[in-house]
Amino acid sequence: MGEELKREAARRALEEVRPGMRLGLGTGSTARHFVELLGERVKAGLEVICVPTSEATAAQARGLGIALSDLETLPALDLTIDGADEIGPGLALIKGGGGALLREKIVAAASARMVVIADASKQVSLLGRFPLPVEVNLFGLGATSLALQAVMTRFGAEGALRRRLTPDGAPFVTDGGHAILDAFFGRIPDPEALSRALLDIPGVVEHGLFLKLCVRAYVAGANGIEVLDAAPRLG
Ligand code: A5P
Repeated sequence: MGEELKREAARRALEEVRPGMRLGLGTGSTARHFVELLGERVKAGLEVICVPTSEATAAQARGLGIALSDLETLPALDLTIDGADEIGPGLALIKGGGGALLREKIVAAASARMVVIADASKQVSLLGRFPLPVEVNLFGLGATSLALQAVMTRFGAEGALRRRLTPDGAPFVTDGGHAILDAFFGRIPDPEALSRALLDIPGVVEHGLFLKLCVRAYVAGANGIEVLDAAPRLG
């Protein structure tokens, strides 16, 4: 059921794709459905050029014959379609469950529109139940962890900070060669303030709070697809 819903959301997002578009391709199981469906359209003759947000997505897209580029050649994109771990009020997101948050955020920020696809289990009234992924430089990992723990205490975190491991227990390393620390906040009532505090820590490369980036979410549930739009930005 979950996979079907993810695929439905992906199918709906595909309707936003126009010939000639420069697309950002997300990472994770939901984005995977989108890339698969896009591959079918490309086989049928659709011409688009895509920037992947991870080596995994690049490999999938390449296998499907989707033309790939990078942000050096294409520094501005039309549309990025990606998944999310949590979708909160105002389309504030937690991302990075798959460890691709840094490239995902760079690609989303380079896109005129970032659209999220998800099943309804991802929609929350308050962010933070999903542990917040924080990507950190390997140099100074201990010191960065301490500083991060201090921020967690200041923001009333309910749980611990854990270094992410692979399924076989080895330290997880991102495509950019960094570690991920998963911060169990429980609740994040002020994501903007937390974002600033995290980015103030030397050694933090990026965090999984995606704020004011996503403009639309297609959320697939038992009763169909809900379309959530961010309020237009003023000024
Ligand atoms: C990858 O780093 C993540 O940001 C994913 O977009 C997010 O974890 C959602 O993944 P699923 O679609 O697999 O739930």
